[in-house]
Amino acid sequence: MTQHFEHHLFFCTNRREPGHARGCCAEKGAEQLRDYAKKKLKEMNIPKSRVNMAGCLDRCELGPVLVIYPEGAWYRYDTAEDIDRILEEHVRDGKRVKDLWLEAGQKRLL
Ligand code: FES
Repeated sequence: MTQHFEHHLFFCTNRREPGHARGCCAEKGAEQLRDYAKKKLKEMNIPKSRVNMAGCLDRCELGPVLVIYPEGAWYRYDTAEDIDRILEEHVRDGKRVKDLWLEAGQKRLL
């Protein structure tokens, strides 16, 4: 079966009140970097790919986080350079960005 999107990236942009025990991705720059990713992906012109925002993905302590479906690939990121690597190495080239990758069930940054 063909997929409507081959790379559908969801960025958590959830915002909590300051000081919340779990923190949130928005306070770590997720909104700006999601906007950056959307623009960059468009410039890269990769077919069947899309960036969307999401609510809390329940991996707050590892954030900011994104997940790529249908593959179910999870990444954390801090900078525009991290976004570039995820889009270029993973989405475009089909490789895993090992130092930003989040394993299933991972609870802490390694
Ligand atoms: S606030 Fe982003 S995963 Fe929960």
